[in-house]
Amino acid sequence: MNPVDLARPELRALQPYSSARMEARGGAILLNANESPWPPFAGREAWNRYPDPQPAALVARLAALYGVDDDQVLIGRGSDEGIDLLVRAFCAAGRDAILISPPTFGMYAVCARIQGAAVVEAPLRADFTLDVDAVLAAVAPSIKLVFVCAPNNPSGAGVPRAAILRLAEALADRALLVVDEAYVEFVDPAGECGSVADRIGDFGNLVVLRTLSKAWALAGVRLGALLADARVIALLRKLMPPYPLPTPCVEAALRALSEDAAGKVRERIGVIHRERARLRKALESLGCVRAVLPSQANFLTVRFGNAGKAYAALLDAGVVVRDVRRYSMLGDALRITLGAPAENDRVLEVLGGVPGASSERLAVAPAEQSA
Ligand SMILES: Cc1ncc(COP(=O)(O)O)c(C=O)c1O
Repeated sequence: MNPVDLARPELRALQPYSSARMEARGGAILLNANESPWPPFAGREAWNRYPDPQPAALVARLAALYGVDDDQVLIGRGSDEGIDLLVRAFCAAGRDAILISPPTFGMYAVCARIQGAAVVEAPLRADFTLDVDAVLAAVAPSIKLVFVCAPNNPSGAGVPRAAILRLAEALADRALLVVDEAYVEFVDPAGECGSVADRIGDFGNLVVLRTLSKAWALAGVRLGALLADARVIALLRKLMPPYPLPTPCVEAALRALSEDAAGKVRERIGVIHRERARLRKALESLGCVRAVLPSQANFLTVRFGNAGKAYAALLDAGVVVRDVRRYSMLGDALRITLGAPAENDRVLEVLGGVPGASSERLAVAPAEQSA
């Protein structure tokens, strides 16, 4: 089945806006886009020109990085844009729905509600693992997109590749499976939770979201990639604004994605792995901490005897963490991003001063402790 058959019929037929930069490339004298003929007074030569909608050099670099073909890449302003485009393309207001497994990243439901699409929930299991059977049992004809966050934010658990591929197969011809791999660079390389981007050619309904905001340290540049069947990419391009990617951001990304930088990024991921294990162990020994959830991401989600007190103590010390108590199953938890080692030391120092009875600590299964 063509995955685009699942999209809103009116969009499949839509004649998209055709921008000047799309209609004609090259040429020495550019008089087709009502731009200034002069460069800006400060900044770079090319900035007076509208950017390439999907700059070929960056598309090729990201395709190589993620192991897919160039026509399977759509670059957007962070993976947030990919989520929004998918919901707008595949969910008709008042008719279609998405499926999520809470507690999970909030943008899926927010984008759906803005679009007027329903949100169906198949919650994570009590140990925060994905319940594939519950997801499949909840899938109805109205559900066009199934979101899986792997590793999951805000709990941190990885999702085994086998579980994701089982879902992709079971959902073929029924729904797109959108795997949000924002944190996948941080998974244990010896484990079973790596990226499924290499299987896009096998499953027309598989979409993978990647971002440069986390491991690549480019959150401020706002660049992410949506990887999917070329027909899905072509459909989503119709919905995108004509010039989504600012030239300075594309230039910055190309510089930051050099081979040289890739080696350094790997080293930093190694530091995050070490800090994740160190901080987890140290937090578990604190009286105010009830449990630390197993994490495959660059954060730890921590259950406290009194999360409000812990949050306030950290804030008083100038340390801002994420209060995730509003999420289901996480009513006593804070999410702490792994910082530089000295920043993590400070977290431990402050939390070491927060009172708490060690009897409040939750039992954590040995298997979880080693994750
Ligand atoms: C799971 C998940 N997906 C997507 C995003 C959005 O990332 P981006 O900066 O690429 O828009 C985030 C941001 O924190 C996230 O946690």
